[in-house]
Amino acid sequence: MFKKKHFTFEDIPDLSGKVAIVTGANTGIGYITAKELARKNAHVFVASRTKERGESAVENIIKETGNNQVEYLHLDLVSLKNVKQAAENFLAKKLPLHILINNAGIMATPWSLTEDGIQDQFGVNHVGHFLFTKILLPRIEASTPSRIVNVSGGAYKWGPAAGIEFDKINQKDAQSTLQRYAVSKLANILFSHSLAKRFEDKEIYVNSLHPGVVRTELSRGVEETYGIIAKIVNKFTYLFKISAEDGALTQLYAATSPEIIEKNYRKKYFIPYGEIAETTALAQDDELAEKLWKYTEDLIDDKLRT
Ligand SMILES: NC(=O)c1ccc[n+]([C@@H]2O[C@H](COP(=O)([O-])OP(=O)(O)OC[C@H]3O[C@@H](n4cnc5c(N)ncnc54)[C@H](OP(=O)(O)O)[C@@H]3O)[C@@H](O)[C@H]2O)c1
Repeated sequence: MFKKKHFTFEDIPDLSGKVAIVTGANTGIGYITAKELARKNAHVFVASRTKERGESAVENIIKETGNNQVEYLHLDLVSLKNVKQAAENFLAKKLPLHILINNAGIMATPWSLTEDGIQDQFGVNHVGHFLFTKILLPRIEASTPSRIVNVSGGAYKWGPAAGIEFDKINQKDAQSTLQRYAVSKLANILFSHSLAKRFEDKEIYVNSLHPGVVRTELSRGVEETYGIIAKIVNKFTYLFKISAEDGALTQLYAATSPEIIEKNYRKKYFIPYGEIAETTALAQDDELAEKLWKYTEDLIDDKLRT
C-alpha cells in the first residue's frame, strides 16, 4: 500500500499520435488506464461488452480529460464471433495500433460456459484475448514500435502443479473456480511469452503483469460463487487493497514508459509499481507455452468452423 512508486501518472509521456485499445475499460483498472492514456493525448478505444457501460465510460473520460479521441468498441470476449467482429471493426477504421492492453477479466465465477462452450474464465480471460490479439497483430506489426500488455495476476500461482491440465479445462468438477482463474492467469503469462518469442526481432514489446490487489468490481464472481462468506472477507480486505488508480500504474508503465524500449523489456512480468518480478518455473516453461498456443489455435479454429 505504501510501496515506493517506480512509475506515476506524471511519468506517462505525451502520447499524441498513438492509438490504444484497452479491453474491459468501462470500470476498474481498465477504466483508469484508458483515462490516463487519453489524458496524455492518445486516441483510445474503450473495448467493452456492455454498450451503456462502455459509452458512459467514454463520455466520462472525454469530460475529465478534454480529449475527444476516445471511442467505444463493442467487444464481448464470451463470444468468439463477437471478438472476431470487434477486431475487424477496429481494422476497418484503418488506424495504426500502438498499444493493446488485454485487461478485461472475470474471477472465480460460478461454473459456466461461453457462447462457444468453453469454460468461462479460460474462455474470457485467455481464449477471447488470444483471438482478439491475433487478428490485430498485422496492424500492431505495421505500427511499430508497439506494445502488447497482458494483464495477468499473482493468482496465477494457485493452479495445479502441472500448470495447465488441458483435459480438465472444460470438466465441471475437475478444479475449483479459483483454480480455473489461476489457470487463466497463467495462460496470460504464457501467451505473452509465446508472442514475445514470435516477435523477438521486431519492435513489438510484449509483457505481462500483476496490477496489485486492487479495489475494483472483480470480486463480483467470488461473491456469486461463495456468497455471504466472500462478502464478509471482501469487506474486511477492502481496507488493505490499493486504489484502482494505483492498480492501473503497472500496466500504464508497461504500455507507455520509455524504459520498456530503452531497456528492451520483453517477456517481463511486472508487479506494482512497474517493478520486474521473477515468475515461477511453470510460467517460464516454453514447452507449456507452445502447447497452450497450439491448443488455443485449434480450439478457436474448431469453434469458428462450427
Ligand atoms: N482487482 C485485483 O485485485 C486484480 C488482481 C490481479 C489481477 N487483476 C486483473 O486485472 C484485470 C482488470 O480487473 P479489475 O480488477 O479492474 O476488475 P473489474 O472491475 O471487474 O473489471 C473487469 C472488466 O472486464 C470486463 N469484462 C468482463 N467480462 C467481459 C467480457 N466477456 N467481454 C469484455 N469485457 C469483459 C468488465 O466488463 P463489465 O463491467 O461489463 O462486467 C470490466 O470492464 C483483470 O484481468 C483481472 O484478472 C485484478
